[in-house]
This record gives sequence, structure tokens and C-alpha cells, in this order.
Amino acid sequence: MCGIVGYLGYRNAQDVIVSSLQKLEYRGYDSCGLAILNSENKIEYMKTAGKINDLKEMLIEYRIPGNFGIGHTRWATHGKPDDRNAHPHSDGDSSVWIVHNGIVENYQELKTELEYKGYKFKSETDSEIIAFLISDLLKQEYSFVESVEKTAEVITGSHSVLAMADKDMRKVIGFRKGHAGGLVVGYGNDEMFIASDMSAIGEYTNKLVYLESDQLVILGDNSASYKDIGGGYFEPDHSFIEVPDTHFSKDDFDHYMIKEIIEQPRSIYNSLSNKIIFNDDKIEFEDFILPNDFTKDINRIILTGMGTSLYACEVGQYFIESLANIPCQTEDASELRYKDSPIDENTLLISVTQSGETADTLGAMSLFQTKGCKQILISNSVGSAASRIADIEININSGIEIGVASTKSFTGSILSLLFLAIKLGTDKSTLSIPEAESLILDSTKLPDLMNQVVEMNPQIEMMAKKYSKYNHFLYLGRGLNKPVAFEGALKLKEVSYIHAEGYSAGQMKHGPIALVDNNIPVIAMALTDNYYEKMRNTIQEIKARSGILIGLVTKGNYDLDGLIDDVIEIPECPKYLTPFLTIIPLQLFSYYIALELGYDVDQPRNLAKTVTVE
Ligand code: G6P
Repeated sequence: MCGIVGYLGYRNAQDVIVSSLQKLEYRGYDSCGLAILNSENKIEYMKTAGKINDLKEMLIEYRIPGNFGIGHTRWATHGKPDDRNAHPHSDGDSSVWIVHNGIVENYQELKTELEYKGYKFKSETDSEIIAFLISDLLKQEYSFVESVEKTAEVITGSHSVLAMADKDMRKVIGFRKGHAGGLVVGYGNDEMFIASDMSAIGEYTNKLVYLESDQLVILGDNSASYKDIGGGYFEPDHSFIEVPDTHFSKDDFDHYMIKEIIEQPRSIYNSLSNKIIFNDDKIEFEDFILPNDFTKDINRIILTGMGTSLYACEVGQYFIESLANIPCQTEDASELRYKDSPIDENTLLISVTQSGETADTLGAMSLFQTKGCKQILISNSVGSAASRIADIEININSGIEIGVASTKSFTGSILSLLFLAIKLGTDKSTLSIPEAESLILDSTKLPDLMNQVVEMNPQIEMMAKKYSKYNHFLYLGRGLNKPVAFEGALKLKEVSYIHAEGYSAGQMKHGPIALVDNNIPVIAMALTDNYYEKMRNTIQEIKARSGILIGLVTKGNYDLDGLIDDVIEIPECPKYLTPFLTIIPLQLFSYYIALELGYDVDQPRNLAKTVTVE
């Protein structure tokens, strides 16, 4: 899952490419590079194991003059993130240059064949093979287009690729196979762009063509022609998009992560503002239509996503089961896409994906598309690859999220799921209109309630300092707060590199309690709800084994004093709103521990914001 970009025009290519790559850094930041056709018609390159800012520095010292080029920001799959494995890659003669997003699944076999022909490889990547395959075909007198097309046919897996060759210098050829982060062509005035997604080129153009799987584009001086891989040329449909909010500022915060945590009262207000309207005795979403008969024959719902979005799905499952009484299950998309699930056209798939580009989520959506299932997408990125598959898209409307560890998208996603559950409940008559109205009215209290939690920021910062010395944590919750426990543990792992596990509190006795001693703090969500007594028992059992406990309790409940070492008080609120509040201190806790340990909070090691490979 990397970011790729190409530029053909009149501007200085390195400036356009570097600025576009910076907007794609959320896809990976292990290394980066570019290749440019210079003013003497030679392809020059620059690459580094650093981040885009390092490449920028290098290019200040050594400017490459030229108006054609390709660039890449990498998330390493094959080979260490060092200079040698950074893209672009070339063939042995440096006559073909490529940037690649995806995994060449048959690369070992292809490499052996090429080695047999005498080719020598320089990197440990699977990507390099693509440059050699193109080059080998060019040597057999195939044209550049034919060579790229044949290469696309030979490699297996999902890919987005851009290629340049000195045999046909004023062309960049791109192709897409499967779901590997997409490719979008942008039409400027006397200039052409191509990138993994529109955010990279939105400042230059809003006239776009999205490549579908198994399509290829040949970009030249102010021209683009499109071809099905192995088929004929075709005229594409153009989209004119509204350039999304690209407010990349950290405002007065040190990091995007803390900005995005703190701004949740506002982002949830924004999420609320485009959701529900009352229409006589019906409830409708404001920003899209759920046709009247959409849910008529639905007898089963599967929710899917990855990472934080998967935990949002688990919260959504609780909402839908209890408000709409429809059998639901939550499935990790990477499993769902390869499962023999008994699904048919009466199964509704609800996919949650902040980016709308996650490879596994797209894989599951494509599978369900072939089975004729109805699909609803919950996403923060309008116009994404996922939105082109789903029947209906609900916009989380949380605003752009830059921090790699997802925060405000989680609360925005669960709000969308709550409203969807209310809508399904009224459609299925398991929820009366007054009941639905009362739930919606409750949700309008969220900005204020979340604000009260955000104000605990200094207290959580102190607590994080105290606990940053521990190497293991357990997070326990029940009911709606079980997925919150998992999400809290995920946040800590992602940014602090500390081992943390989430469990349903009921599971403690079945193994995890063996871990308890005074080296593993346990964070227990013990709100005053129908699970409280059970949670209290679990806390007692941990205390009896000299465990260290941090309790999230309902404000004003002192019943656990003496049992817990530290307390985080959550304002009293209607039951469906608790996950919106309990997650905030857990996000803050992870942020401050990572800060205390001196880690790069916004770009944690080994991660990427959008995972466009399996
Ligand atoms: C990556 C990110 C996570 C995110 C997950 C799913 O792992 O680091 O923060 O939750 O992908 O992403 P999506 O865009 O589908 O919500």
C-alpha cells in the first residue's frame, strides 16, 4: 500500500510530484523517490529510505529539470525499507522505470525465469520484476504499450503501476488490476496527472477519470487514451468532483492525533448535522435516500471492515440487533472475502471504511457484489473506490483524518451506525417513531457530553506519564464497551508499541486472568449499566490477585474506591451513547504514553493509514 503519482505538463515535475506525494504519505512512509525525464531527454531518479521531507531536502541540493515524471511513497512489503528497495525501480539498463502499489504474487517464479535469461536484480522487492518484464518485452520488439499490457497480464495479484521507458519517452503508462489503491487520471490545462487518489492532484484539477480493474491508460503530451487490458480501446466517463476538504493544518496542536481527538465534539456535531430528518411519520437520512423497499426482504446483516472500522462494526452490531432486531454478524473483511458464507440477495452487507480504499474491505464488497447482495457503505471519503461498489453511501462527515491511528472516524462511524440502526428499526417497526425521536434527541447531546470528556485531557496526560513504564496492558469491557476495549488496546499498540489486549470481561476467567500480577495494568470499563455488578466482580477478582486497575466509571460512583488504583469518570448518559465517551480517554491515554516514550505519534512505525494491499 503505497502512493504513486505521475505528471506530464509544463510545470517543474519534481515540485508537482513531491507535493502530491506528501498528500499520499498516509499510504506509507517507509521510503520514497521519483524518476524524471530531464531536459536532455534522459531519465534521472532520486530515492531515499527517508520520508518525503527528506526527498525534498535532497532535491533542493540537486534539482532535476524536467516536466515529465513518476513518484512513489512506499509501505514495505518485500524487502527492508532502505534506499535500494525504494521506488522507482528500473531494469538492468535503466531504460524502463516503474512505480508500483501491490504485491506480485507470482514474483518468485517470474524472477527465476528472468534470472535464467541472465537478468540481475538489484533490490529485494517484488516490484522490480515489473521493470524487467517490460524491458524484456521491449527487447523482443514489442511496443511500449504492448510490453506494459503483456506484463499486466502475466503478473498475478492486485496492482497499480506507472511506467516510463526511454524507448517512448513522452509517455507514462498506467494500469490497474484488482484493488491495490486505485488510479485516477486528472486533466489539467495543457497538463495531465495520474495518482493513487484524487487528494494528491485535487489542487490542480477536478476533471477526473477513475481507472477500473483491468484497465490501462496511455498518457502523453496533453492526451490520455484508455484500453482494457487484453481488449480494445474505449472512451471513459469523466467525473467532475468537488475537491474535498484538504485542511491539513495541525492548528495549534503538536500532532494531528491529538488535534483529531480533541476536535471530536465538533466532528460529531458535523456528523450529526447531515444525518436525519423527520418526514411525517418516517425518518429519512438527509444526505441520501434509502429506498422504501430497500430493507423489505433483508433477513440478515453482515458488517465488515478492518482495524478501527471493524471495532466500529461491532458497536454497530449491538445497535442494529437491539434496535432493529435483525440477525447480524461482524466479520473481519480479510476473512469474509475468502469465506464460504451462506449469503444471498436477502443478505445486506454494511461496510465501514474511513478511507474507502482498504484492500480487504473492497475485496469483501466485490465478493458480495457478485452474489447480488445489497450494500451500504459507511465512509469518510466520498467518491472512493468503495463508494463505486456500494448501493448506498453514508458519509461519516468527520472531516479529513491525517493521524495514522484512527480516532474521530471511529466516533463518526458509530454515529452513522446508530442512525442506520434507528432507521432500520423504524422500517422494521421494531422502533416506534417517538422512540426513534427520543434516541435522536439523545444523540444531539453528544457534542456537549464529549466535550466534558475532552476536558479531562490534563488528567489523562498525568495518568499516562504514570503508566508509561509498563510493557503490557489489558482492556476489559462488556456489551457496547467490549469493542471499545478492543479499540483502546489497538490504539495503544499502534502508537506506543506496547503490548495490549482487549477482552470481554467474561473471558477473564478463561485464561487471561493467569496474566494478572502487579506488572500488567488492567483498564476496566465499569459504567453503571446492566453489566455493572458483573464488572465489579471481575474487578474484585483482579484486585484479589494484586492486579493494578484503572476504572472507567460513571461520574459520581464511588463504589469502586479502594478497589481501583485510578479512576476516569464518564458523564452519565443514555446507554447507546457510552462508547462515544469511553473511547476518548483511551485515545488520549495512548497518545500521551507514545509521547512520553518519544515516538512518532502521527506516523507510527510499520503502519500506514490506508492499507491498499492484502
Ligand atoms: C489501517 C489504519 C487503521 C484503520 C484501518 C482500516 O490499519 O492504520 O487506522 O482503522 O486501516 O482503515 P479504513 O480506511 O478501512 O477504515
